[in-house]
Amino acid sequence: MDRYAVFGNPISHSKSPFIHARFAEQTGEALEYEALLARREGFAAAVADFRAAGGRGANVTLPFKLEAFALADRRSTHAEAAGAANTLIFDARGITADNTDGIGLVRDLHHLGCELEGCRVLLLGAGGAARGALLPLLAEAPSALTIANRTPEKAVALATQFQPEGRACALLGCGFDGLRGTTFDVVINATSSSLSDDAPPLPAGVYAPGALAYDMMYGRDETRFMRAARALGAERLADGLGMLVEQAAESFFLWRGVRPETQVVRDALRAALSQSS
Ligand code: ATR
Repeated sequence: MDRYAVFGNPISHSKSPFIHARFAEQTGEALEYEALLARREGFAAAVADFRAAGGRGANVTLPFKLEAFALADRRSTHAEAAGAANTLIFDARGITADNTDGIGLVRDLHHLGCELEGCRVLLLGAGGAARGALLPLLAEAPSALTIANRTPEKAVALATQFQPEGRACALLGCGFDGLRGTTFDVVINATSSSLSDDAPPLPAGVYAPGALAYDMMYGRDETRFMRAARALGAERLADGLGMLVEQAAESFFLWRGVRPETQVVRDALRAALSQSS
């Protein structure tokens, strides 16, 4: 049976084996997918061992996404833009690195009924997660995309680097204070602030009527960002569980050439999460 795995450290919390087992069952693809703990200094060796044992591909999570990118023989445009990889494909040509996180985000936004074309979008954060989202977001042709970060210089640098040709979309970088007086239709939290039960300090008025507040993080309960967004008047809230399932579906497609149905897996995962302590 074809073997796949997700590498991380820690890894025991990973939902990827659950998701891919359901994708395989649903599509009739004969594959095994497991979670493998790699030592902090041992990522490359763990990948080499897995390939030698017949591994066909892998997902990569923290803290190895940069190393996975560096390890590859070839890289997709999305991986190049993100500077990081969450998906590796092993074949006779070597290791190909891809990044499906940003596509997963955009697919989930579509799934939520959110079309980005002509919208004003605010992306919070300027680290790996934000970087990975930028190309897929820009491809949706929002009228404006603002990157806001705790360290404003990083947001400005990202905006400069990703500046689209022509003037179809205004891409700007700033600090959170720089958002005063501007409203957005979609606000995406790509900071890691939820990990420390914190949220970026956004000024009142950032949420336009009907706006969606989207946190890339997820958990059993609403994240701090979602609670703060509600208090600031966001009318729609979503966490990143759907993004997790969608990025997995895109990886599955890259490996197998088959697109799984995501809604049923999303529902199963949400149910499992709500029962966890
Ligand atoms: P990731 O790969 O998850 O993006 P990262 O590259 O370390 O992780 O980036 C973390 C991002 O979250 C950064 O944009 C960081 O802001 P700084 O660049 O100013 O460090 C942001 N971040 C982390 N904790 C935060 C908090 N408590 N409030 C606001 N932003 C936070």
